[in-house]
Amino acid sequence: MLAEHQVRQYHEEGYLFLPETFTAEEVAVLRSEAEAIYRQQRPEVWREKSGAPRTAFAAHTYNEAHALLAHHPRMIRPIEQLFGEQVYMHQYKINAKASFTGDVWQWHQDYGTWARDDGMPEPRAMNIAVFLDEVMPINGPLMLVPRSHTQGVLTAEHDISTTSYPLWTLDEDMVTKLVEQGGIVAPTGAPGGLLLFHGNLVHGSAGNITPYPRKIVYLTLNAVSNAIRKPTRPEWIAHTDFTPIVATDEAALTRYAQRFRQAAE
Ligand code: SIN
Ligand code: MN
Repeated sequence: MLAEHQVRQYHEEGYLFLPETFTAEEVAVLRSEAEAIYRQQRPEVWREKSGAPRTAFAAHTYNEAHALLAHHPRMIRPIEQLFGEQVYMHQYKINAKASFTGDVWQWHQDYGTWARDDGMPEPRAMNIAVFLDEVMPINGPLMLVPRSHTQGVLTAEHDISTTSYPLWTLDEDMVTKLVEQGGIVAPTGAPGGLLLFHGNLVHGSAGNITPYPRKIVYLTLNAVSNAIRKPTRPEWIAHTDFTPIVATDEAALTRYAQRFRQAAE
């Protein structure tokens, strides 16, 4: 459960960073499975223009370790607390930001996409990032504009050319104005860190030209009453199974991670 000051910080700033939420052992299995998924040829693995993996969608539907993360109480409970109701998985993706080739994510708001492309009624879905690698100032950390979530849905353009992935992006004047008001933060730290942020918080990330990959899992948990009304994207990008998530027990992922480590020894 989140403490009162954490709930207040989330509402005021639009994000909350909880370092070291998952153990090294838990993260090791999630990272190793992510790397195996990127090696697969399947439609859910989206590639950069260079051919390097960009993101793997819906891994919680075809990989057991990621299914356990998707049902983890450390993830589900704080969001149920903030929304005051049960949640379902709107989207699950593992962003690679590969060494040397990981491409930019332009400045955007996620709820803009969920509203325009998926028909989501309200910004009552939460983004939760879990760091699978160390996130450093130099390897393309996620950058957030604090307090920008208070601005509602901003005018955006559908950019289908900058990267391999179409995105509703914000123009430079808009970002400049918001940054003058809120600045930019880029939470960094060890694998296992957890960062949750509001659907309307403006964010983006630079490319990664370092030898250090920056894999982050992003879960989008949506309040069940806020289920999407007009899906236009494939089911594996914007899910239409609105079944409330039932959390596992606290140690389910840990047990799986221990068995995985022992099998590898
Ligand atoms: C996103 O905004 O969906 C991803 C950004 C990132 O992984 O840097
Ligand atoms: Mn985003």
